[in-house]
Amino acid sequence: MPAIVVLGAQWGDEGKGKATDLLATTDPIDYVVRTSGGHNAGHTIVVNGEKFATHLLPSGILTPGATSVIANGVVVSPEALFRELDGLIERGVDVANLVVSSNAHIIASYHSTIDKVSERFLGKNQIGTTGRGIGPAYADKVNRVGIRVADLFDEKILRAKVEAALDMKNHVLTKVYNRRAVEVEAVVEELLAYTERLRPMVVDTSLLLNQALDAGKTVLFEGAQATMLDVDHGTYPFVTSSNPVAGGVCVGAGVGPTRIDRVIGVIKAYTTRVGSGPFPTELFDEDGANLQRIGGEIGVSTGRTRRCGWYDAVIARYSARVNGLTEFFLTKLDVLDSWERIPVCVAYEIDGVRHDEMPMTQTEFHNAVPIYEYFEGWKTDISGCRTFEDLPKNAQVYVKALEEISGAPFWGIGVGPGREQTIVPPRD
Ligand code: GDP
Ligand code: IMO
Ligand code: MG
Repeated sequence: MPAIVVLGAQWGDEGKGKATDLLATTDPIDYVVRTSGGHNAGHTIVVNGEKFATHLLPSGILTPGATSVIANGVVVSPEALFRELDGLIERGVDVANLVVSSNAHIIASYHSTIDKVSERFLGKNQIGTTGRGIGPAYADKVNRVGIRVADLFDEKILRAKVEAALDMKNHVLTKVYNRRAVEVEAVVEELLAYTERLRPMVVDTSLLLNQALDAGKTVLFEGAQATMLDVDHGTYPFVTSSNPVAGGVCVGAGVGPTRIDRVIGVIKAYTTRVGSGPFPTELFDEDGANLQRIGGEIGVSTGRTRRCGWYDAVIARYSARVNGLTEFFLTKLDVLDSWERIPVCVAYEIDGVRHDEMPMTQTEFHNAVPIYEYFEGWKTDISGCRTFEDLPKNAQVYVKALEEISGAPFWGIGVGPGREQTIVPPRD
């Protein structure tokens, strides 16, 4: 039985939550796994008109019978974890089937403090992070002064690790940022407050998932963030601090690449981005404002307005390549219902030269000017369409054209936020 990866093919917020939820409810899925990022994610799931948002938790938490897994590659804020769990419990969701890796790194309150002050320090060069402490927690991990989930269960070790983690940071906080030092005991106390509730959830998630795959179970890896936010393959430095690409799933879960059967890239029928950084098809006109308004493009985690632009096939092809996508899931096609004419970026012009592939350097990408092809709009409400043939002719042409230039077949098409507002498969 398969291991399936669902990941973001653009700059995030493509509808990964919806795609994951759809797969988890239409196929018998045994495990839904987060492998990177933390509560910087915001995934929306709409079930029978009721809206849920998950941040640190996998969307599978809403799927009865599925086990939700927070694997080793995730950075876990215990405070955010229990806040999110309590919110779901209040709404009557059964959250018993959740396990957390003993090797996942912890986000403590000082990580978000450092995230915020360092952003302020960057001034006009700021990344526009979510301020959740993601970057500083991954920096500690790579710097080998991180605190892992297992460390919470031995107070002596925890204290020693917190001391080591804060040693240098307090110099920087007081001398560079002119802030108060963080007290070791306050952090130890903050983290110990969660240990009792966390302990029963903690397991070796790599062993669990490999044994599950050996036993023929189906495992769904739910990506967070996206390809263009990947610290290696995205628009560095305007990225997150993890590897949301397909390769990151293997590292973040302790599962070998040979075990992955499908890699689904979720992609919007246009493009959005939150935070700073280059965005070739970004619109600053009425079209951009309309995409923002009709698409409801407001961040689930931070409430920030998302920047909007047309579909970028160069990015789609790049995502197909670096992730080895077996298919795409195209979302939010319905948002384009009212346009007369829809531009699609098919290549870039950079310094007078046409680029069909992502340029090699960031400087070139910053200077990329989209080359557009134009498609006739369909001017019809498609939210009720359930088969490819239900779609108006012009919408069919648009989808087929995107599919041809994007580098992988389209497995599904979203025509609304609801689970049922989907065309799967688009056609034979
Ligand atoms: P994620 O971070 O990739 O899970 O995406 P978000 O939840 O942050 O943002 C996607 C938004 O689009 C959410 O509000 C979804 O409910 C919504 N959505 C997903 N698919 C569709 C679709 O096909 N049509 C419309 N209109 N909305 C969709
Ligand atoms: P989902 O999973 C969109 C962006 C932030 C910022 C950059 C770095 O919902 O698609 P970070 O706090 O991660 O250090 O911020 O990454 N970012 C996202 N943008 N969707 C997300 O998650 C994001 N997670 C991080 O806006 O530009
Ligand atoms: Mg999101």
